Amino acid sequence: MNTALLTKYPVSGPRYTSYPTALEFGELDPASLIQGWTSSDKQALSLYLHIPFCHSLCYYCGCNKQVTRQRQKSETYLQYLLLEIKQRAALFSGKPVTQIHFGGGTPTYLDDDQLSRLMAALRLAFEVAAKAEISIEIDPRQTELPRLGHLAALGFNRLSIGVQDFDSKVQQAVNRVQDEEHIFQLVKQGRALGFSSISLDLIYGLPHQSVESFRPTMEKVLALRPDRLSLFNYAHLPEKFAAQRRIKESDLPTVNERRAIFTMAATLLVDGGYLCIGMDHFALADDELAKAQREGKLHRNFQGYTTQQEADLLGLGVSAISQIGHVLAQNHKEIKDYYGAVEAGGSATDKGYALDQDDKIRGVVIKELICHFHLHFGQIEKRFGLEFNAYFADDLRRLAEMEKDGLVRIDKDSIEVTDAGRPWIRAICMQFDRYMTAKLNRSFSRII
Ligand SMILES: C[S@@+](CC[C@H](N)C(=O)[O-])C[C@H]1O[C@@H](n2cnc3c(N)ncnc32)[C@H](O)[C@@H]1O
Ligand code: SF4
Repeated sequence: MNTALLTKYPVSGPRYTSYPTALEFGELDPASLIQGWTSSDKQALSLYLHIPFCHSLCYYCGCNKQVTRQRQKSETYLQYLLLEIKQRAALFSGKPVTQIHFGGGTPTYLDDDQLSRLMAALRLAFEVAAKAEISIEIDPRQTELPRLGHLAALGFNRLSIGVQDFDSKVQQAVNRVQDEEHIFQLVKQGRALGFSSISLDLIYGLPHQSVESFRPTMEKVLALRPDRLSLFNYAHLPEKFAAQRRIKESDLPTVNERRAIFTMAATLLVDGGYLCIGMDHFALADDELAKAQREGKLHRNFQGYTTQQEADLLGLGVSAISQIGHVLAQNHKEIKDYYGAVEAGGSATDKGYALDQDDKIRGVVIKELICHFHLHFGQIEKRFGLEFNAYFADDLRRLAEMEKDGLVRIDKDSIEVTDAGRPWIRAICMQFDRYMTAKLNRSFSRII
């Protein structure tokens, strides 16, 4: 890592799971989402369901969650979610549902019976395709082996398991101590039950992590051989997430240590047969994400990298985000506001954004760069009927400085992000973000 660049370019920035990012969301006329739906050219629908509850608090966590031992809360929540599903399905019907993802919080906070009722309601309300990808995030500390059998029987065919780090000192520092053997058993059982994809979440940049401490974690991960792996850069925003204040800044690895940890982990993965997908994902070569990247069809949405390029996304539950046609919309983030909105019978949307033509163009440019590290101007010119060098003259001028620093190569009809530039991909995308100047003063997670 060239440390001089750390003072030259922004070291914090958006993760570009959408463009514009959620920070630009404002008041949205509820009719806009319907308009997005009727004018959308997408052929399928993807559903995201947010289950916000967790059994205990992981200090690093930046997700929208509520830690509670009062199980009744989840039953109340389920009742509102079922109502929202009914209300939304009446409006967003007619396209096959090709993907359903349960995220959180911890979706497995719901018990077997609650998950059965939820899946039954989804199947009744929407036209779920026979081959739909149905995935769920599970917390291994709270998932006994028999639960996987129930999930498989409900039609779940993908599992995502939160591991973060196998090192016990790191686990204690973040208040997430978990049994390693149990994770191995879960993966084995998941395979035996025929789950077609098993994914693990890891985080680098956590307290007490070093190249030496993280290597054994990576070796165990390689032994488990998940189909996919997320290697998240720890987003430390203690001013935003109170629990992160329990993590001592002095225990965090430095920027250079972080990069060294990532490089070690990525090298082991690539040597072990994984392909690097975008910023923070890895997949075995025969996995669909890897195939989509090879074919130039990788897409990015609020859940990260995905193959679902041809689907609109409907978010259900507190804080869930939808992207339907040209409209982005987020549900209320506070549970009581969400309940109030669902009860009132209208939409649970709190805010959102309707993209204009310039947003659409820039959104595609940013998506191409962050998914493929490469951009052909001809692709944008053909799709939007513009002359790239003229339309993006200012952006390309800004990017020229990054070219001098070896982060990108620009020629007359393409941009290529170099190996040295990959860690800077978010900063590179920011050059095409017209809201960037305003954003530079806001708080973002570290890029590197
Ligand atoms: C909703 S959790 C996964 C499901 C379940 N709650 C669990 O923890 O096992 C989503 C993932 O986000 C990642 N994550 C959470 N907070 C993060 C942060 N501050 N920085 C980077 N990654 C984070 C973790 O890897 C976590 O597994
Ligand atoms: S990482 Fe998962 S279990 Fe831990 S607090 Fe966040 S959402 Fe809950």
